[in-house]
Amino acid sequence: MITQSAPAAIIVEGLTKRFGNFTAVEDVSFQVRRGEIFGFLGPNGSGKSTTIRMLCGLLSPTSGRASVLGYDIVRDAEAIRLNIGYMSQKFSLYEDLTVEENLEFYAGIYQLPPRRIKERKQDILAMAGLLGREKSITGTLSTGWKQRLALGCALIHEPGLVFLDEPTGGVDPVSRRNFWDLIYDLSRSGVTVLVTTHYMDEAEHCHTIGFIYNGKMIALGTPENLKKTKMRGQILQVECAPLLPALEAIKDVPEVIEAAMHGAGLHVVVEDIARDTPVVRQALKRANVRVEAITPVEPALEDIFVSLVEAQSR
Ligand SMILES: Nc1ncnc2c1ncn2[C@@H]1O[C@H](COP(=O)(O)OP(=O)(O)OP(=O)(O)O)[C@@H](O)[C@H]1O
Ligand SMILES: [Mg+2]
Repeated sequence: MITQSAPAAIIVEGLTKRFGNFTAVEDVSFQVRRGEIFGFLGPNGSGKSTTIRMLCGLLSPTSGRASVLGYDIVRDAEAIRLNIGYMSQKFSLYEDLTVEENLEFYAGIYQLPPRRIKERKQDILAMAGLLGREKSITGTLSTGWKQRLALGCALIHEPGLVFLDEPTGGVDPVSRRNFWDLIYDLSRSGVTVLVTTHYMDEAEHCHTIGFIYNGKMIALGTPENLKKTKMRGQILQVECAPLLPALEAIKDVPEVIEAAMHGAGLHVVVEDIARDTPVVRQALKRANVRVEAITPVEPALEDIFVSLVEAQSR
């Protein structure tokens, strides 16, 4: 449930973080509406976690400003920490404590009164599908369970906004799907979610996406909008075998802007499908590659990101 009229839940203006001479986050600006799922994407080391830590009031910016739920990240850092949930990239769970003890520990940090702790614990256990596992030692849980417990700990105080820093790294597809159902539920109940991920299928489900590269926000918009505006060229889906020699041969063709493996075939980006498809076909034939089919396809988010990264590194 996105609230259009209320002030944005997150307002970031020119946020910058330097570590010595190195600029990890550079002049980043964006807004997140209340109840929105904002996907924060970018390759490893691009500055996602650093940005999140500034927005959580855990790291002070070098310059720029930001507010979270109306609180200034420098002046009101303490208020932010009490009013938001944060699931860090390494789930901050105590492995030797039980499920219940982890929840109680976080409830204690937020100073919930005993009656509220009891209620919230039940709510969270139900939400996370952890009822009956209260006494399990956390270290013995599978990654999928731990992930849901970590989310539960981040939500124990019913925050209006939650930062999830790569919450689904290393978990299986079913657990990922279940976890995303929880994220939708949060959004529907009005909670604002900022989530980082490397999975493009997850990114497709965000209301808005910010793409950060080398500390700079290089694209911002809805998935549909990014697909319309950020793709350089048109895409051909090429079904052929063998794949690796095909990729090698295609990459050398001047008309090809970009080529990459995609599922069981290749995605080949060219300037003009009508003009360049025969060129691609001939190059494959010369390399003794058997071509099953060449079909134009609409870009997926993954294609957009490859295209953006390519454009930046050129
Ligand atoms: N405390 C620090 N001191 C020096 N450099 C740092 C510090 N924290 C982060 N960096 C550097 O800042 C850059 C951005 O790091 P950050 O962790 O924000 O990236 P990320 O986008 O979260 O990457 P990943 O996808 O791998 O989690 C990296 O080059 C990292 O090495
Ligand atoms: Mg990170």
